[in-house]
Amino acid sequence: MKRRKNVHPVNARSLGAAAARLRRGALVAFPTETVYGLGANALDAKAVAKLFAKKGRPPDNPVIVHISDLKMLRRVAGRLPALATKLMAAFWPGPLTLLLSKKSSLPSSVTAGLDTVAVRMPQGLARDLVRLTGVPIAAPSANLSGRPSPTTAAHVSDDFPDVYVLDGGPTAHGLESTVLALDPPCVLREGAIPGDLLRKMIPGLRLPGASRKRASGGGSPAVSPGTKYTHYAPSRPLILFLRRSSLLSYSRAHPKALVLSLGSTPEEIAKNLFAALRTRRKGTELLVLAVPRRGIGRAVMDRLTRAATRIVP
Ligand code: TXA
Ligand code: MG
Repeated sequence: MKRRKNVHPVNARSLGAAAARLRRGALVAFPTETVYGLGANALDAKAVAKLFAKKGRPPDNPVIVHISDLKMLRRVAGRLPALATKLMAAFWPGPLTLLLSKKSSLPSSVTAGLDTVAVRMPQGLARDLVRLTGVPIAAPSANLSGRPSPTTAAHVSDDFPDVYVLDGGPTAHGLESTVLALDPPCVLREGAIPGDLLRKMIPGLRLPGASRKRASGGGSPAVSPGTKYTHYAPSRPLILFLRRSSLLSYSRAHPKALVLSLGSTPEEIAKNLFAALRTRRKGTELLVLAVPRRGIGRAVMDRLTRAATRIVP
């Protein structure tokens, strides 16, 4: 594959260069354990404005702030409820994003004017980069607004050919973090940490399916602004089949359609999903089979349903 000038393999030099760029208000894309993020200094309103402009992100859709340690957390979030402390101990560093009360010193553009801030402590290289930079990093997924989240440096570079990208290889989970509101406890976006795992620590936790039904009846719970936008637009129309038999008969009748094979375990499917939605292989349409809505399968189905132009029972 052609080497791209804006893509830099991770080493001490590229990490140092990336941190320096972030400190001076420039944007840097970097791998996290979930997907690649497009980062900016969260305390620098001008850098955050660049981030929204670059992604084409609507200003009413807040971004996640990444921290390296609990001392840095104090720069962005106020009082921590007991449940937050318990969840941080269990899942940080890792793919769980928590809604906390926002510090007024954090630019309001980061949270789209909301009084909560979404925070997570990522694992591995992303955490190293935040630590080295020394400031909290605001980072949405590093895709143009409406495109599938990037799981490789090449995906990022396809959307942003002139952004400095740290290349750490394909990401581990392949799906974004789980976003959790705490008051009341409610999963706003399913993700790499399955809701049923969180339910073990938070009895009665509300998962998105249930809250959507409630929302129509008034008294609606908190919602994640991002989930109202069209998302994950695939390279070709995507049809989601709920049954193998309907997929088979459709593909027999439409031999030019491309059947996506994502893997055999739910984890493997999660990891391959976004790359498959960006496929350049030939085919009039993309056909994909549903997975059981259990564990990580719930998040996979959330993404597939959003990406699909049509769902066939
Ligand atoms: O795994 C991830 O979460 C990746 C990596 C880079 O960390 N980031 C990511 O960010 O997926 P993004 O911006 O693509 O998605 C953030 C989601 C959006 O749905 C947004 O609306 C929601 O989090 N969000 C952020 N701040 C919020 C807030 N204060 N209240 C409610 N939802 C919020
Ligand atoms: Mg995103």
